[in-house]
Amino acid sequence: MNLELLQKLTQTPGTSGYEDEIRGVIYQEVTPLADEIRIDPLGSLVAYRKGRGANNGHSKKMILAAHMDEIGVMVTHVEEKGYLRFTGIGGLRAIHHIGGRVRFPDGTLGVIYVEHRDDATQSPNLNHLYVDVGATKREEVPFGVGTPGVFVGPLFQQGNHLISKAMDDRIGCYLLIEVLRQLKNPPHDIFFVFTTQEEITLSGARTSAYRIDPDIAIAVDVTGTGDTPKSLPMDVKLGQGPAIKIKDGGMIAHPQVRDMLIAAAEKASIPYQLEILLGGTTDAMAMQLVRAGVPSGCLSIPCRYIHSPSEIVDIADVEQAIQVLLTAIT
Ligand code: CO
Ligand code: ZN
Repeated sequence: MNLELLQKLTQTPGTSGYEDEIRGVIYQEVTPLADEIRIDPLGSLVAYRKGRGANNGHSKKMILAAHMDEIGVMVTHVEEKGYLRFTGIGGLRAIHHIGGRVRFPDGTLGVIYVEHRDDATQSPNLNHLYVDVGATKREEVPFGVGTPGVFVGPLFQQGNHLISKAMDDRIGCYLLIEVLRQLKNPPHDIFFVFTTQEEITLSGARTSAYRIDPDIAIAVDVTGTGDTPKSLPMDVKLGQGPAIKIKDGGMIAHPQVRDMLIAAAEKASIPYQLEILLGGTTDAMAMQLVRAGVPSGCLSIPCRYIHSPSEIVDIADVEQAIQVLLTAIT
């Protein structure tokens, strides 16, 4: 595991719609590894590797996608006493962020906390939260409405586990970069797409896929687990191998892609899990719907506490997922 790379990937800010800085980091990494690089109008980074031509010199076009953007907050209002109100960029649950911290583009650190509520029997929503940046009046806050902030959650290794903010989906970006690094002479043309705005609209994946017009598309993203106290029923556990998606809240994986990933895992003798995620979806949902339709699926990294500042993945799951993907595309 290249922890130095994962450190850069997880800690560089890049909420949906504000991916410039993280794209810069990824651009540096993939430039020496790709035959061609371009940035699409909505900001997705496409690194292309030419195939050697599989059938009679004809290569198929394949997309591997991971999203660069991360969840965060956006300032909606600065109160007279200098406290900030905010909305979520991506899906936030208030209870996962009380006592957490956010960092704004100018470096300002904010503490997220919750108003006193006389009736505390209901769980709070985002409207009950505010950010304390240490200001005592509105004029002291050096930024205002529309400013994005990212959660603070340093990368930490504990045994086989890696804990950080933004594992969703910088671990997918890590995986794509490592596959690109280890890939030799692929039979097909492969487009490594680092997408924008997955957490909001899936728009980066949708538009990049339209332009590429692929024969097949695979998203690499995190998925939930069913191995924590009173979790939703789910057959995926941390550390039991990468998960191959059957279904999530937005799509059913195309059988061709699902079976291709299963065959790859079996060929490489890598343990895998079958994933049915009850809520949420990935870039694969958008990619399957472009043009006349694209067979699409998803290779998932099991992850605990998704969309919190302490998302946990297992090192073996990540390393095995790299091998499954390499086997599937070569
Ligand atoms: Co997400
Ligand atoms: Zn994601």
